[in-house]
Amino acid sequence: PQLEQLITVHDFEEVARKKYTEKTFAFYSSAATDLISHHANLNSYRQIMLRPRVLRNVKEVKMPRTILGCPSSAPFFVSPTAMAKLAHPDGELAVARGCGEEDIIHTISNNASFPLAEIVAAGKPGQAFFLQLYVNSKRQKTEELLREAAGLGINAVFVTVDAPIPGKREADERIAAGNLVSAVSGAVAKNDKKGGGLGRVMAQYIDSTLNWEDLAWIKKVSGLPIVLKGVQTGADVRMAMEYGVDAIMLSNHGGRSLDTVQPAIITLLELHRTCPEIFGRMEIYIDGGIRRGTDILKALALGATAVGIGRPYLYSLTYGQEGVEHLTQILKDELVSAMKLSGITHIDQAHPGMVNTAYVDPL
Ligand code: FNR
Repeated sequence: PQLEQLITVHDFEEVARKKYTEKTFAFYSSAATDLISHHANLNSYRQIMLRPRVLRNVKEVKMPRTILGCPSSAPFFVSPTAMAKLAHPDGELAVARGCGEEDIIHTISNNASFPLAEIVAAGKPGQAFFLQLYVNSKRQKTEELLREAAGLGINAVFVTVDAPIPGKREADERIAAGNLVSAVSGAVAKNDKKGGGLGRVMAQYIDSTLNWEDLAWIKKVSGLPIVLKGVQTGADVRMAMEYGVDAIMLSNHGGRSLDTVQPAIITLLELHRTCPEIFGRMEIYIDGGIRRGTDILKALALGATAVGIGRPYLYSLTYGQEGVEHLTQILKDELVSAMKLSGITHIDQAHPGMVNTAYVDPL
């Protein structure tokens, strides 16, 4: 279909399902074992209800957000996802360019298919980028990458902490892989003795000894703000504060890591009880299952500074850069509608009273 005919985030998934090779779609769409967390991610937003206020002049609305000091035209960004070249020859370059046009931030995966410098160069001068990091067992490699990132003007490092080992993504494992290399990590996406499973094979370089004491080293080598991506409990949010990280990202890796963990939006909700001091102290980002403007508004109402969008951007690459832009516009339009119909005119006005969480939060 023509891009104009796509009017929802879901439409991109349906097109991708038809257009991508079976392997590419399996790698992008898959989640761990029984997909419990993946489905819960999507369902949790459906069970949080909005409480609109009426009779407020909502003709003009604004949604700019500063994310870790970087201006963004909207309170969402692209979550890091591996190997965008499987979707489109321009891969991450198309994502970077689309984000530049739309003034949103691209978080580059440590398993991106293009070299970091090329991705950054594809953006506009001064365009903000984040880099997602998996620490390499050969720490020297990580040091080189962090120094390169700092030299390129990358604005922050998102250290992924929910995947010391890869999740068991069976749809991906059942289909043989090609032979593609990540230009950032050097990981090769190919078969091994156990068969397909791009995620599993590519994760072999990841250092599972990584622990809290290593964070100071990452900060020192990069000199950049550090965000922990994949925090899932109030207890770890407290640790993050103690260890002086700059922000946290609540995430269950799109249900691709440990299955049956709770959705990040539930963790965000819990933080109001388990770690209320986080709010106002540190920015909180969240991802997993966000597909609608209303989903974004709900996460912001519960205290997120911004949300990340993962799979939809990979699906949008069916149309390359234009797809990235079109998807972004759909999300922005839906967020504008959700704000107006909820009775707010600036994204800063989002607050917990806007949502009824009784269906997901019996306490
Ligand atoms: C991911 N994700 C991910 N996360 C990360 O920290 N580093 C990575 O390299 C990847 N790679 C990756 C590949 C693919 C194909 C997917 C779908 C996801 C996880 C990603 O950043 C994000 O947390 C989830 O995708 C968010 O959930 P949704 O929006 O996909 O539901």
